[in-house]
Amino acid sequence: MSAAKRSYQQCVILTGAGISAESGLKTFRGADGLWEGHRPEEVASIEAWERDPETVLRFYNERRRQVRAARPNAAHSALAQLEDHFPVTIVTQNVDDLHERAGSRKVLHLHGEILWARSEKDPDHRVYLENRDISPGDRCPRGGQLRPDIVWFGEPVPAMMEAAEIVARADLFAVVGSSLQVYPAASLLDLVPEHCDRFAIDPALPASARSLGFESIPLPASEGVPVWVERMLAK
Ligand code: APR
Repeated sequence: MSAAKRSYQQCVILTGAGISAESGLKTFRGADGLWEGHRPEEVASIEAWERDPETVLRFYNERRRQVRAARPNAAHSALAQLEDHFPVTIVTQNVDDLHERAGSRKVLHLHGEILWARSEKDPDHRVYLENRDISPGDRCPRGGQLRPDIVWFGEPVPAMMEAAEIVARADLFAVVGSSLQVYPAASLLDLVPEHCDRFAIDPALPASARSLGFESIPLPASEGVPVWVERMLAK
């Protein structure tokens, strides 16, 4: 890959489920969307957890197995290579670790990380799960039941402030594979500075990105992101 001619000072990539689709992980709102077997409120809310923790644990144990079996695709790898040329922050809505496994070094997970558990009593007690499931009765030293370290619908997004500060300083911004229908993550687009170059890589350009002047690259991520990275480095 050639050296970049133009030097961007802060490149931010907002990713969604679409960047992991070609790694075999289902998106949420596509025709065969992940929620198909469940309604989101059945498995991804604090009410669901309090009502039926076993179903919630089973749902995330199954998704965690799928994440472990998945591999980063060319889109994840191309974003990692971008870091050799510009400061890059990945702000992801995804709970998989494919960006990290592809080599990205600064990844902000707005919605948590499926390979981690945390105590329902002590949010600072986090456990890396490696190849383990979370079962009813798995407790932290203070006796709190372990739960997926996921931000459920209706819960606050701890990384949002840091993400907002970084986006507000961006001079290059791209959204890859997100329908931009979930807040507060989608509101990051409103913080993209006026002068910032902005792109959306997604076969279906979300209306909000179109209305904010994003240049559309209507390709699947594994094809569109490497093409886009080459373009950014050739500027
Ligand atoms: N390459 C690029 N984009 C793709 C691909 C692909 N191969 N396949 C699908 N897409 C696009 C779709 O066009 C859509 O715009 O990815 C997007 C997926 O949108 P969603 O399924 O809504 O996923 P996302 O935007 O990440 O959802 C946000 O919603 O349910 C919550 O917490 C969950 O983090 C998730 C959040």
